[in-house]
Amino acid sequence: MGDKATLTVDGKSYDFDVFVGSENEKCIDIQSLRDQTGYITMDPGYGNTGSCYSSITYVDGAKGILRYRGYPIEQIAEQASFMEVACLILYGELPTQQQLGRFRDAIAEHAPIHTNLEHHFSGFPKSAPPMAILSAMLNLVSCFHPEVLEVHSEGRAFNRTAALLLSKVRTISAFSYRMAIGKPINHPNPNLSYCANFLHMMFSDPYREYIASPTVERALNLFLVLHADHEQNCSTSTVRMVGSSHANLFSSVAAGVCALWGPLHGGANTGVIKMLEDIRSSGHSLDYYLDLAKDKSSEYKLMGFGHRVYKNFDPRSRILKKRVYEVLEELKLDDTLLDIAIELEEKTLQDDYFLSRNLYPNVDFYSGILLRAIGIPLDMFPVMFAIGRMPGWISNWRELLAHKQRISRPRQIYTGEKLRQYVPIDER
Ligand code: SDX
Repeated sequence: MGDKATLTVDGKSYDFDVFVGSENEKCIDIQSLRDQTGYITMDPGYGNTGSCYSSITYVDGAKGILRYRGYPIEQIAEQASFMEVACLILYGELPTQQQLGRFRDAIAEHAPIHTNLEHHFSGFPKSAPPMAILSAMLNLVSCFHPEVLEVHSEGRAFNRTAALLLSKVRTISAFSYRMAIGKPINHPNPNLSYCANFLHMMFSDPYREYIASPTVERALNLFLVLHADHEQNCSTSTVRMVGSSHANLFSSVAAGVCALWGPLHGGANTGVIKMLEDIRSSGHSLDYYLDLAKDKSSEYKLMGFGHRVYKNFDPRSRILKKRVYEVLEELKLDDTLLDIAIELEEKTLQDDYFLSRNLYPNVDFYSGILLRAIGIPLDMFPVMFAIGRMPGWISNWRELLAHKQRISRPRQIYTGEKLRQYVPIDER
């Protein structure tokens, strides 16, 4: 704190503290605004409004910078395992071998789910959206572990709850897929890595264990690492909103799953594939789709393009674009959707509508092609995003409680009817 911002309204001037973050981001602390002036601010979509002070992730949208606890995503993406990144995001430091070993043991310990829980999967219709199942099952899991209903943001109780959630989200997701395709569930194998175990639970069969190739395991690891946290996006803000009422961690992230499900957010990776498949099968030119996206009356958007914060490139998209090529080559796969995606990106880079609005590929534009290459079914794409984002959600929930932040309760400006008297129905 130090500098002040002065607001003059109704002929009077008011001073408010200016706070400068560790990367020189500046904010005006307006916590006393309404008490001092009687005014509130208005910022639908919160594009100019900070909800918290956080030390977890830093994004510079103008420079295409993303860092987890100060480490650049480019370095983390190429070198760290998802479990290392989870430790970093949860506890603030890269783990030692010993710390990582203990963390992995806790994840392995909590991988199985209670047998009684398995029956609940059969209660969903085969057509049930995986994100609906995930959100429901997260709350259901907490019913079998009453200790996680306690709100602990520190110590062993928190560590156990965090490991339990990070592990169970993977098991629940794989089980929901197996039930949807009518195949027997695969129980977790504690000897496998986080990613290899997920792929085993997804794709093994009773007479043939699925052994993930290093390429596939590395590709999934990269996907999860790139999705691990991203400041106060829609779903993370939802987790904080729910957590601010001191709701338990499982119910808070179950709400985050629902926010992530939206096609403008974590549902976009599915939308990108559907858009590329539509482009491939429709016979229309790419210009046809660009024109559609520019036509306001169409409400059509190029899925995977644009971002509230990145007004340059999304670094995650660049990393994924490079890796997708390598994975397809290593797996000797050919996906014409990638060719269409590359061509579409190149066209937007020469189109003033997209350039003038800073609409570049975001994390969802290439991630879906990577998931396709490793065999993840399309309707599971948002679930993969949720698994990846779990460390970020948990860490933000914990930070909110550690900062003893007040319950979130935004204000509004009322624009409805003024005072009027009730009229009994037989007089209307
Ligand atoms: C994620 O916040 C995060 O960090 C999210 C995320 C994370 O890691 O958590 O990064 C993950 O959700 C990425 C975004 C995935 N969604 C999509 O790809 C869906 C398509 N993109 C858009 O819906 C949109 O760009 C958003 C939702 C991503 C951002 O919306 P904003 O910030 O509210 O931007 P806007 O809608 O106000 O757009 C500004 C202008 C508008 O045109 P004008 O009114 O100025 O004429 O750009 C246009 C928009 O119509 N525009 C698009 C477009 N995105 C914005 N036009 C065509 N196609 C698009 N994709």
